[in-house]
Amino acid sequence: KHVAVLMGGLSSERQVSLWSGTACANALEAEGFRVTRIDVGRDLPEALLRVKPDVCFNALHGRFGEDGTVQGLLEVMGIPYTHSGVLASSLAMHKERAKIVMAAAGVPVPQGRVVTRAEAAAGHVLEPPYVLKPVDGGSSVGVLIVNEDQAHPPQELTRDDWSHGESLLAEKFIAGKELTCAVLNGEPLDVIEILPSVGFYDFEAKYAKGGSRHVLPAQISPFVYQEARRLAVAAHHALGCRGVSRADFRFDDRDGGSGELVCLEVNTQPGMTETSLVPELAAYVGMGFGELVRWLVEDASL
Ligand code: DAL
Ligand code: MG
Repeated sequence: KHVAVLMGGLSSERQVSLWSGTACANALEAEGFRVTRIDVGRDLPEALLRVKPDVCFNALHGRFGEDGTVQGLLEVMGIPYTHSGVLASSLAMHKERAKIVMAAAGVPVPQGRVVTRAEAAAGHVLEPPYVLKPVDGGSSVGVLIVNEDQAHPPQELTRDDWSHGESLLAEKFIAGKELTCAVLNGEPLDVIEILPSVGFYDFEAKYAKGGSRHVLPAQISPFVYQEARRLAVAAHHALGCRGVSRADFRFDDRDGGSGELVCLEVNTQPGMTETSLVPELAAYVGMGFGELVRWLVEDASL
């Protein structure tokens, strides 16, 4: 099979996608596939007509890659592709709409509302502590945490060069643990606890060496562990995901905390560098990186 790895792209997560795409392309080559790497730009249709792949391996993150638009192009061109289809992709990318669908399926989600950047800059939109994030972003790009001792909203919001969109999701900050669980082929994998070295699980913590520590299996009660797996599957199905997805959770396990497990979001194009969470979860059940990317290619469809 001739596989085109779609990588890079036009989103704020371009660099992450180059890392994911490089790792996946190398692994697919090692698995014996004929591989062409495509750095996705506005000329993607021409590139696909030239390359004529049998399958597209989607290693894009963010806008024009994770949001259903590239998936729509591939549908029109009749090229099978990995990961989720059009509807699940665009739904999961929009955190507010995704929360509505997940909540309807019984998956607990954080309280919050969408505000404009101007509103968020003018005064506290929720009682601190709270989180402000681009409603359709990823990799924590543009995420701001407003602490209890902050009298005013973050200065960044008023910057002329703000590039994270005008629509922000404001959510109650949930103290406690950061957990993640992936769903592969409709079945849950295990649960990782993520411990950022400093602050929260931001871009640095996600991609810098030593930025975070992963605890696998997460040290939580068997009940909460199974609950995270159950909710990850419920969210995957509610959004209509395909292939692999990864659900991110907060679990307030502090003394006096709510004890609640809430789903922040589902990632339909989870990070796929060799040290990313999904490859780590697959390896934990004996599925190496090569086997994982091979399975994704075999699962590709229209
Ligand atoms: N948005 C990044 C790539 C992730 O979810 O892993
Ligand atoms: Mg994300």
